[in-house]
Amino acid sequence: MSIKIIGTGSALPEKKVTNDDLAELVETSDQWIRERTGIGSRHISTGETVARLSAAACERALADAGCAAEEVDLLLVATCSPESGVPCVACQVQGIIGASKAVAFDLNAACSGFLFALHTAWAYMETGIYRKALIVGAEVLSKLVDWTDRGTCILFGDGAGAVLAEHSGHNDVFRFVQHSDGSRGGSLTCDTRRLKNPYVEIPLQSPWIQMDGREIFAFAVRRVPECIEEALAQAGMTADDVDMFVLLHQANYRIIESIAKRLKQDVKKFPVNLERVGNMSSATIPVLLDELKRAGRLKDGMSVVMSGFGAGLTWGACVMKW
Ligand code: UT7
Repeated sequence: MSIKIIGTGSALPEKKVTNDDLAELVETSDQWIRERTGIGSRHISTGETVARLSAAACERALADAGCAAEEVDLLLVATCSPESGVPCVACQVQGIIGASKAVAFDLNAACSGFLFALHTAWAYMETGIYRKALIVGAEVLSKLVDWTDRGTCILFGDGAGAVLAEHSGHNDVFRFVQHSDGSRGGSLTCDTRRLKNPYVEIPLQSPWIQMDGREIFAFAVRRVPECIEEALAQAGMTADDVDMFVLLHQANYRIIESIAKRLKQDVKKFPVNLERVGNMSSATIPVLLDELKRAGRLKDGMSVVMSGFGAGLTWGACVMKW
């Protein structure tokens, strides 16, 4: 038994912000950003929330599959940038789209969040608990970014992607590998609220994203190829058997090139959209997946690998037959 992705959808905020626009805010240039990251522009919320973007992505995924919201049993949203602590984004989305039968909750594994959520949904479906699941990766990181820090504000974008997955009787390949290393969590942080009650007041360290870019870069180019190979080995495959590395998490084109090189694969097998959308954390994988599907680039039976990495630290890979 396994699961099949039967619909995809995505949603981006309307406002597009170019590198030249950012050069008006901080000391940077289009040339620096393109050369160091591959990013040319990103979409930034001017009011769109994580819940609204998620709901729009879910509605498109449902329409793509020709499925009604009431048929969904499980609704998972991976995000690290919700607008509220409670209710969770997934419950808000459930209310907006009318997925009245679904059980809904959020999951936070930063940029690996979508893959971890997909794995969670897979486990529920594999054991027969649920049959149809909406899995979402969604972020409005622009509210967590320090817009005076040129080292981070040029990287991130806002958006949401969703897939509708269904329990399938086929014995398709679907292998996951997940890892976490909390001892290295300090290299990418973002505090939310300070502890302030009648007994204590602890100042906030920083409400903005703080990142040691070089440390994350080094971690990604080493750990991601290792975990892709681990997942491929479980599926009895090698990198040469893979038709498309749907994603790699879209953080930096140089990271993607380096991973391709370590896996001895042509970088053309690694589609990218970061030039247009930047790094949307948990949303990068499902948004790219949706774009590829709509462009007709995902064909039945293709062997596809997805892989994410980011804060936590967390990283993982999934091997699947499309
Ligand atoms: O989603 C998962 C988490 N994030 C990532 O995967 C990000 C991983 N890391 C990266 O992508 C890269 O480390 C960055 C793109 C963030 C930075 O690139 P880098 O090549 O590692 O640059 P750097 O931080 O070593 O900085 C090099 C120089 C510094 O100047 P000095 O000290 O050499 O004079 C920075 O101050 O570039 C400067 N710099 C900039 N210059 C122009 C940093 N940001 C900018 C900027 N524009 N936006």
